Amino acid sequence: MKLQMCTWLDVQNYLKQSQGIVIPMGSTEQHGPSGLIGTDAITSEFIAAAMAENNQILIAPTLSLGPAAFNLNFPGTICLRPSTWINIVVDCVESLAHQGFRCFYFLNGHGGNIAPTLSAIQEVQRSRSTSPLPLPPLMFRVKSWWEFPEVNDLRQAWYGDGEGMHATPSEISITKHLFPQMCPEDQLPPAKSLDKSFYQTHAGDQHLDANSHRLQFPDGRVGSNSALSNPAHGKILLNTAAKAAVLDYLSLIEEHRA
Ligand code: NI
Repeated sequence: MKLQMCTWLDVQNYLKQSQGIVIPMGSTEQHGPSGLIGTDAITSEFIAAAMAENNQILIAPTLSLGPAAFNLNFPGTICLRPSTWINIVVDCVESLAHQGFRCFYFLNGHGGNIAPTLSAIQEVQRSRSTSPLPLPPLMFRVKSWWEFPEVNDLRQAWYGDGEGMHATPSEISITKHLFPQMCPEDQLPPAKSLDKSFYQTHAGDQHLDANSHRLQFPDGRVGSNSALSNPAHGKILLNTAAKAAVLDYLSLIEEHRA
């Protein structure tokens, strides 16, 4: 159930049986020469939609602009300040909490969103903790679709080192499955493999400034071989991520009930 397609009466009824909501998060940034600019927002939005297919789960509008300073020298990238992102997340949570939502499941499609989302959650917790009136507790989970073990196993098996960190074949496979006409074929040789240590030191898109990043990764891919992507993989990745995310979301709801 998409929030945008509900009336307020629908939401009022939903709140009688669940206080949970899924908030997909993405980014609007270059994804290499064959990846769509909206890749991160499209992947999280469609995985969230699949979560709701056979389940009574409410899906908020996708937060589709994010912090992505490292990609600003590639045209088409729109970068929010981390402080803007934090304000957006806090405002969304506080609006929904005011109406009775208690469990917030952030389904993420962009590494750079993780740190500021965790900070936003702590902003909310701080303000509720210092409120003069007692407020009901809120529960949060931030999960990137690629980190579910079932999904990660597929990424490793299919792409190995070619998965890389940005413009990954797994995310491009999902967009190719959803929009086969829109994704050009990748004609480039594989990007240079990354050292294992690079994954650790740059996890969560902790990259250099935009100038340095474009010099370091001139075609926009970060260690990934986007040419390995294909729509059949994309369909499996999407459905596997959605299934795992439903179970993870339900465990958050259970934790809240306990
Ligand atoms: Ni991405």
